[in-house]
Amino acid sequence: MPITWNEEKKLFNVTTKNATYQMKVDSYNHLIHTYYGSQIDDTDMYTQISFADRGFSANPYEAGKMDRTYSLDVLPQEYSCYGTGDFRITGLRVKESTGNQTVALKYVKHAFFDGFHKINGLPSVHGTSPSTSLCITMKDDVNGLVVELWYGILEETDVITRTVKLINRGNAQLIIEKAASMNLDFTYGEFDWITLHGRHAMERNVERRAISHGISSIGSVRGTSSHHYNPFTILCEKETTETNGSCYGFSFMYSGEFLIEVEKDQMAQTRMIMGIHPDNFSWILDPDQTLELPMVIMSYSANGLGKLSQNYHKTIKENVIRGNWKNKRRPVLINNWEATYFDFTGDKLVEIAKEAQSLGIELFVLDDGWFGKRDDDNSGLGDWYPNEKKLGCTLKELGNRIVEQNILFGLWLEPEAINEDSDLYRAHPDWVIKAPGRMPALGRNQLLLDFSRDDVCDYIIEVISQLLTEVPISYIKWDMNRSMCDKFSNNLDAAHQGEFAHRFILGLYHVLETLTTRFPDVLFEGCSGGGGRYDCGMLYYTPQIWLSDNTDAINRLSIQYGSSLGYPVATMGAHVSAIPNHQTGRSTSLSTRGTVAMAGTFGYELDVTKLTEEEKVEVKKQIKTFQKYYDLIQNGVYYRLTSADDICTVWEIVAENKSEALISAVYHGVEANPIPIYVKIQGLDEKKQYEISYLNADCTKQIMSGIALKNAGINIKGATTEFESYQIYIREI
Ligand code: DGJ
Repeated sequence: MPITWNEEKKLFNVTTKNATYQMKVDSYNHLIHTYYGSQIDDTDMYTQISFADRGFSANPYEAGKMDRTYSLDVLPQEYSCYGTGDFRITGLRVKESTGNQTVALKYVKHAFFDGFHKINGLPSVHGTSPSTSLCITMKDDVNGLVVELWYGILEETDVITRTVKLINRGNAQLIIEKAASMNLDFTYGEFDWITLHGRHAMERNVERRAISHGISSIGSVRGTSSHHYNPFTILCEKETTETNGSCYGFSFMYSGEFLIEVEKDQMAQTRMIMGIHPDNFSWILDPDQTLELPMVIMSYSANGLGKLSQNYHKTIKENVIRGNWKNKRRPVLINNWEATYFDFTGDKLVEIAKEAQSLGIELFVLDDGWFGKRDDDNSGLGDWYPNEKKLGCTLKELGNRIVEQNILFGLWLEPEAINEDSDLYRAHPDWVIKAPGRMPALGRNQLLLDFSRDDVCDYIIEVISQLLTEVPISYIKWDMNRSMCDKFSNNLDAAHQGEFAHRFILGLYHVLETLTTRFPDVLFEGCSGGGGRYDCGMLYYTPQIWLSDNTDAINRLSIQYGSSLGYPVATMGAHVSAIPNHQTGRSTSLSTRGTVAMAGTFGYELDVTKLTEEEKVEVKKQIKTFQKYYDLIQNGVYYRLTSADDICTVWEIVAENKSEALISAVYHGVEANPIPIYVKIQGLDEKKQYEISYLNADCTKQIMSGIALKNAGINIKGATTEFESYQIYIREI
């Protein structure tokens, strides 16, 4: 039984294939978190908690008179509260009408439910296989706040999902000032904390640091999950590597402002808290109102970071992404952004589409600049009608001209954005996000629409629906190009302004839900200046996301590697672009640009009409290679074989049935008299024989056994020129 309740021991055991998560209702009706790690049975781990008078650690009133060893300041709790003697970071802070912020939760009851728990208005993990959800009800007896802690599992991928629902069952208004989706306490263990930090065009760099005494945090107050910190993180033991050791992953299924805090306390215990960022957040709960919080997807691996990543890859592909595109082959696309930027005509676009089609490309995406007054990035956002003068025809006519070339047509939109110089702004100046009486801060010279307003969301839904109905559009790139500030909605009264940032995300999700339901055959690709909103929340609606505005093959190695910690290749928008690269000025071979983009959804972003005949032959070959190995690349098991900073970055994708694998190796430079690089190949059948061949270099085929590949490894061909790359195909013989 994956989730059990032992009445006698008052113990919950949540069990996945390799892990156990345990909670206990103790004699004071507190819900104590007793264990999370490699599988155990229902041995009561509460017995192993040390009780001692810690001094200056408060004791709950009912315990304090008899027992000074019982303190919430040191006990591992399932969901910690502010004010009642836990002086660490806490998950819940609630203000009563008196101004009091102390809140105390006690266990009331629990219940099991069939199936996956769905959160109203927010994305959640789903599935077809039978599953059980557990709901534990906690209550503050004084103010009447009910807190439901929800748990679900995906056994195979060792996933436990968590979410929280708050219900005001009292008689007076409550203001929720902080409400985490997850609190996780470890009573022992020396942990490292792995986070993904970055900036625009250089997202998701991996940082691993020891957790030391005090509080560390990452988060976003930018309205989006952001380029700067990703809402995916890992706690691991000091000795954990790619292939060995314990690690815990946490992915926040939310695209807005978040906070992840870690504290090592006086007793060297570790607490992690994950949730909506409490800065500038407050949510009014009137009697009987509820607030549902975003989901956290936790996973555990006892076999290193590689296995943990694989758990997330599978979960995202199977239980986060939905809809018709979940298992459908995605088209190889060409995007005109880096080919033309704003400078194009309808004829030029058709010319690119025609050439692209002849090379084997399946989808042409018209990026920014096709609408309103939009010849640079200073005006036009919001006016989602075509600039017919520029295109030389209507959008429908252009779409038809493209589709007549035997290639699908896709369109760029930035629905949340608006320029002051636009008809939409002139008609609805009150629809933008802006603080009263102040000039708004600009980002890329644009403002954002107030998606917390129903009328704004309805308008956007109708405008996009009309485009999708009238024009033969198969794909939408959904962009968002600034951080949110001046957070204020003129649709909310003063008391409710603290709800704004979360209401914006609820509005965004509502729009996306409506459009993806209305147009299930349209492929949506997310984007926020590249990877500024690359999270499991968006992936629920948009099965792929443009990973970064940086298309430089060498920079992409670290961006894609960092992303691979928590996200699958099948979600990473990756394109071959022109050289010298527009972001770095670096020149890499077409072959290397292809190798790197194939560790993603694969496409092109250059003017194919300018390619030489030789390059066209190579592009055709690349597309054929990608299509031939599509299933392996998109559905195989992914391994990082080296670090992204090594002189040669090597990754591997193996078929689940172990019959084949594709190894990709990219040199960061070239050295004279190079030192040979060996990598050990993982995931193959030790007992089988395999043939090894280079797809993009002359090299004699070799035969090796699975066990030799695993334990001895292969010697990667050395680089003879700068940034050389190899694709090595291994197949069972
Ligand atoms: C930012 C995106 O990431 C780019 O790919 C491109 O679509 C531009 N916006 C267009 O303005």
